[in-house]
Amino acid sequence: MCGIVGYVGSEQAAPILLDGLARLEYRGYDSAGIAVVSPRHELQVKKTVGRLRALSDLVHGGADVEGTIGMGHTRWATHGAPNDVNSHPHVSENGKFAVIHNGIIENYVELKEFLISQGVTFRSETDTEVVAQLLEFYYNECGDFFESVGRVLRRIEGAYALGMLCADCPDRIIAARKDAPLLLGFGEGCSFLASDATAIIKHTRDVVYMDDGEIAVLTRGGIQLYNAMQQPIEKEHHHIEWEVSAAEKGGYPHFMLKEIMEQPDALRHAIAPRLRGGEIVFDDLKLTPEKIRGFDRIFIVACGSSYHVGMVGKYNLEHLLRRSVEVALASEFRYSDPIVDDKTLVIIISQSGETLDTMAALREAKKRGAYILSIVNVVGSSIARESDDVLYTWAGPEIAVATTKAYSTQLAVLDMVGLCFAKLLGTVKEEEYADAVRELALLPDKVKETLGHCEDIQKYAAQHFHHESVFFIGRNLDYALGLEGSLKLKEISYIHSEAYASGELKHGTISLIEDGTLVIALGTYGPLFDKAMSNVIEVKARGADVLALTTESHRNEMAKTVDHVLTIPDTAAMLLPSLGVVPLQLFSYYIALQRGCDIDKPRNLAKSVTVE
Ligand code: AGP
Ligand code: GLU
Repeated sequence: MCGIVGYVGSEQAAPILLDGLARLEYRGYDSAGIAVVSPRHELQVKKTVGRLRALSDLVHGGADVEGTIGMGHTRWATHGAPNDVNSHPHVSENGKFAVIHNGIIENYVELKEFLISQGVTFRSETDTEVVAQLLEFYYNECGDFFESVGRVLRRIEGAYALGMLCADCPDRIIAARKDAPLLLGFGEGCSFLASDATAIIKHTRDVVYMDDGEIAVLTRGGIQLYNAMQQPIEKEHHHIEWEVSAAEKGGYPHFMLKEIMEQPDALRHAIAPRLRGGEIVFDDLKLTPEKIRGFDRIFIVACGSSYHVGMVGKYNLEHLLRRSVEVALASEFRYSDPIVDDKTLVIIISQSGETLDTMAALREAKKRGAYILSIVNVVGSSIARESDDVLYTWAGPEIAVATTKAYSTQLAVLDMVGLCFAKLLGTVKEEEYADAVRELALLPDKVKETLGHCEDIQKYAAQHFHHESVFFIGRNLDYALGLEGSLKLKEISYIHSEAYASGELKHGTISLIEDGTLVIALGTYGPLFDKAMSNVIEVKARGADVLALTTESHRNEMAKTVDHVLTIPDTAAMLLPSLGVVPLQLFSYYIALQRGCDIDKPRNLAKSVTVE
């Protein structure tokens, strides 16, 4: 959530900051601002509510703000309305300190009361402003910027990625992190700070990921890192492998469409290196066969679409492993006093690797002794670093808020984990395993084939975009698939939509079906096709307009009953949702397009949810 970027070097800072913020736009924000130190060592702060364009116009693309050191911020408001005053950077009363912040200062009320009692006047309603005012307060006591930062960090509680400037020390930015992403970039004669690598990859690929409690001092000559005791430390550098173009639209009108279309390649990257001679091989897994045999409980924990991957995983892993698998929403799991011990495997799923609830759930499970295996897309992210084992999805940067290629690759990796463990435990039949492995190898091509039906889907979207309420129905894997289809549709098109297990309809929901209600019936799962058909007939009988999704082999049968049919190629049962999700993603995309929505940045949403 929100974006942070900082630069210290010899070039003009403002255009670099604006460009960096533009690359972080996908993370979601409501206002933006920059602070640049002028050649006369004054802090120049420009900020405004609204899109980055408004900020860029305000400073004429950066030309109005001279200086070679500065920091920029896109805010996703948590405390105080999105407006100019509440936008970051926040400046202390005497104008000497500027602060940008991602996260929440949980004890800000107490700190604010303390500072007010000391005569400080606040300008904004944010929690962040206490950091700027406290810096000034401690600086008045000790006269040292770095020492003041240390004192502030010992007082504040909560989550933060912080960038701080002091007019008296015009050559440096000080950064600090706890429970919010922040990385450092090392350039030639320049240093960078950013929420994620997309903001700075144009300038450097040499990065260090900050960990909780760490502080960094960035100058033109380099970056010095410190631990929470403010003692200097050295850390391993990482080299960012992917290309800048991976985070650009490449001719597509939206990142979402680009990322949908990238799925065959993304799946190839996730699957191919792990298939060898008809076997699934995880070179990157530390778990030993003894340890796998010793687990008596499995949890899958995640949020949003990653949770939906877990829902599919529950059906597949229980079938393959013949043991119970619980799927939990991270925000619920963390406070549920979960039954977890050292015989529990917790599979954490996260695209960003920074989702705060998921991170907290991971820590809770770890504290209770569980083994943490995470499936993550962003390399080097917090969740990846704190897990016992991490399997990367290798989907490349995902920019659109609505996840597509990350969902697909997470699902493929989770299915492979299930198959690999089942083989080891001897709980899967040889033929089923061999068939699934064969179909996994074909999955990228079958997804590509499915993407070829784009025009049909666009046509249906044009017929259905006016609906204000939609139901997704399905059984078993199709129910799990419906949850994701429904979320995709509602998050980008703002159409109210719900996913139901078909068998549950008659227990309440069917009363909502009337003439013309749009029902998307998912009937891809062969073993329950007949049951799915009965439910389709029930809603048809009550006037629903049914758009069905099924496999090619069931097309004719489905077509006898419903209004429109979309198909996916036949494949192994466990992989059906991997194909089924593709038409649902495209359907949501084209509906949102018809409705004129801001597809890549839907209202109120952020790509990386780093607040509770
Ligand atoms: C899905 O389109 C959403 N962007 C959202 O539900 C997302 O899956 C969720 O916030 C979890 O994010 P993560 O995978 O980065 O942890
Ligand atoms: N809590 C801070 C605010 O509301 C920072 C929000 C953010 O992460 O952008 O201003």
